[in-house]
Amino acid sequence: MPETIIQVRDLVKQYGDNTAVNSISFDVNEGEVFAFLGPNGAGKTTTVEIIETIRTATSGDIQILGMDVNKNRTEILKRIGVMPQDFSSFDRLTVWETVQYYARLFGSDVDIDRLLKLVNLGEERDKHYVTLSGGLKQRVGIAVALVNDPEIVFLDEPTTGLDPRARRDVWEVVKDLKKRGKTIFLTTHYMEEAEVLADDVAIISKGDIIAHGSVDGLIDRFCSTIHVAIKGAGPGVKEIADEMSLVSESLGNGNVQIEAENNEQVVEILNSLKNKNIGYGSVDIRKANLEEVFLELTGESLIDKGDAK
Ligand SMILES: Nc1ncnc2c1ncn2[C@@H]1O[C@H](COP(=O)(O)OP(=O)(O)OP(=O)(O)O)[C@@H](O)[C@H]1O
Ligand SMILES: [Mg+2]
Repeated sequence: MPETIIQVRDLVKQYGDNTAVNSISFDVNEGEVFAFLGPNGAGKTTTVEIIETIRTATSGDIQILGMDVNKNRTEILKRIGVMPQDFSSFDRLTVWETVQYYARLFGSDVDIDRLLKLVNLGEERDKHYVTLSGGLKQRVGIAVALVNDPEIVFLDEPTTGLDPRARRDVWEVVKDLKKRGKTIFLTTHYMEEAEVLADDVAIISKGDIIAHGSVDGLIDRFCSTIHVAIKGAGPGVKEIADEMSLVSESLGNGNVQIEAENNEQVVEILNSLKNKNIGYGSVDIRKANLEEVFLELTGESLIDKGDAK
C-alpha cells in the first residue's frame, strides 16, 4: 500500500467574504507526482502555500510527513522544497551564486555543481540570472527548491509562460526527480502537463475539488468518448454512424468525425467501412483528454494562459 505523505481534511480558506478554498480533502502518496490542475483563481496557490506552512488555513486539518502544519513549521520546512509561483531571483548573481545563496540560507552543504547538473544547468553555471531564458530561470527555481534535499518538492506552475520546448525540458527534470524517489506536488493549468507527468490528478475549480484520480481513471469515468476521425473517405461514412446512432460530423473532403462510446463500436465502424467497401485515406482514433473531462465537469474550457508571454 502506498504511504500517505500529505493528508488534507476539510481545508477552508477565506479571504474576507471570498471563500478561496471550500472544504477540500485529499491525500498525496509518497513517491508520486501529484498534479493540482485548475484555472486561474481556482485556489491552487492558496492550498499549496497552506500545506507549505506559508499561509494559515481558516479551518481544516493538514498533516504533512506525519506532522501538523500549525505545530511543526520549522521541522516541516527543513524537509520540503518550495518553488513559488513566478519564481524570481537576484538579477546579477550567477546561477551558481544564486543556488549557493539559498543553500547557505538553509545551512545546506549541498554539492552545487551536482545539483546544477541534476536540473540540466551545468553549462549555465556562470551566467547571470537576468540573462537566462524563462525555461532556464524556472530550472534555477527548481534547483533552489532542492538545496535542502527535500522529501517533497512543491512546484507552483513551473512551466507557465514557457515555450513548448522549454516546458518539455522542465518535464524531464520532474521525471528525474520522481525517479530519485521525491514526491512532487505540482500545480498547473496545463492539461498536457498533468497527462504526461501525474500519477494522480485533482481537478480544482472555484475552490472545490471536482474530480480526483489517475488520468486514465478520470477520462474513463467522466468522458469515455472515443473520437474516430476518418479522412479522405468515399460517401457512406456518415450513414454508418447514423445506423449506429452515434454523433458524427462531416468536415468536408471526405473527412468525417464520429464519436464512439467504446472500443467495440470503434471495431464495428472499421468493419462497416470494410464490408461496405468504403475506401479512405486514414483513420485517427483518439481517447478523450483531461480538457474534455474539465469541459464535461464544469461546462467551461480550461484555456491555457501565459503562452504569449
Ligand atoms: N493573499 C490574498 N488575499 C486575498 N485574496 C486572495 C489572496 N490570495 C489569493 N486570493 C484569492 O483567492 C482565490 C484563489 O487564488 P489562488 O491564487 O489560490 O488561485 P490559483 O489557482 O493559484 O490561481 P492562478 O492560476 O492564477 O495562480 C482568488 O479569488 C484570489 O483572488
Ligand atoms: Mg497560483
